[in-house]
Amino acid sequence: MEVLSGRLDRLFERRREEYEQKALDILRSGQYILGEEVDSFEKAFALFNGAKYCVGVGSGLDALRISLRMLGVGEGDEVIVQGNTFIAGVMAVADCGAVPVLVDPGDGFNLDAESVRSALTEKTRAVLVTHLYGIPTNMDGIVRLCKERGLLLIEDCAHAHGAQWRGKKVGTFGDAGCFSFYPTKNLGCFGDGGAVITNNAEFAEKVRLFRCYGSEVKYHHSLIGANSLLDALQAGMLGIKLQSLDETNAERTAIAEKYSAEIKNPLVVLPKAPENAKCVWHQYVVRCSLRDRLQRHLEENGIHTIIHYPVPAHLTEAFAYLGIERGSLPKTEELSDTVLSLPMYNGMTDSEQDAVIEAVNSFSG
Ligand SMILES: Cc1ncc(COP(=O)(O)O)c(C=O)c1O
Repeated sequence: MEVLSGRLDRLFERRREEYEQKALDILRSGQYILGEEVDSFEKAFALFNGAKYCVGVGSGLDALRISLRMLGVGEGDEVIVQGNTFIAGVMAVADCGAVPVLVDPGDGFNLDAESVRSALTEKTRAVLVTHLYGIPTNMDGIVRLCKERGLLLIEDCAHAHGAQWRGKKVGTFGDAGCFSFYPTKNLGCFGDGGAVITNNAEFAEKVRLFRCYGSEVKYHHSLIGANSLLDALQAGMLGIKLQSLDETNAERTAIAEKYSAEIKNPLVVLPKAPENAKCVWHQYVVRCSLRDRLQRHLEENGIHTIIHYPVPAHLTEAFAYLGIERGSLPKTEELSDTVLSLPMYNGMTDSEQDAVIEAVNSFSG
């Protein structure tokens, strides 16, 4: 049996007629940029998260970079970011002129208060947390530390729509929660899209202005902005998907629970759901010191996997200028050599899950 690492067609099929009808309605409406569909999705997504405001933007990367800029992060500032995140967060920091200070994660895949504390300097302005793979970061100590030191706290929630820490949705712990709606995400559209959520009215207004040429009234510009909009078609599709996000997240959780119960191989370390966390399992990421051999073995058995992420930011050409040598972030580097994402998608059948489990269990090195 062949099992793909991810697939989107099964989820689409479940509500195909609704998507198609909505797309036709929007195409026929003549309103493609901003307007009612975008307003209504923003309201629904803010409500879903328990945030006061949501502003749709063009992508997850834009959600991050616009947030940092509109919170006033810029030249001379340092922003603490985990080394093992997707490059977007690191690029967003660099893009606004600040210095990304890369640190190792704590025990799991995410930042912890100690790793943040160890990187603080007088220039530290903000902390950027990623709820990696849909596993919420322990926010207790980080929120306390940011309050104590007067630091901005930004959450990259691209993997974690609907995830919770102590019953509170991720994205609502600090100044800004940044989401990607890239098609493969737990809440994914049919192209690019993103959003910022916040409880800060002034900041929300700035993001709203920035995303549209710094303009509220056509041809009047109060700041130098960007063209970064969530379009009406995507907002319409997202509105439909949001209605079943809790169920689709629960379906991923059931797959993760089955993997965790039935994968038994001493060579493979399974991910842990921290206490107090509601995970949404964007990815189910195992670790294996013989990762490349494991990946080959799975491939030979028809199981396709992906590595999130094979090259940490500090070892990419783009960030060579930071001068962070190999060996400086040992945990991050070890993770990039050992992590492997098993197939995870909505609509995955029992026999597909069994095939993955069987293939992992039969790996002998
Ligand atoms: C953790 C993380 N943050 C941010 C992004 C950026 O999102 P986008 O692709 O919508 O720009 C991604 C995209 O994959 C991501 O994985």
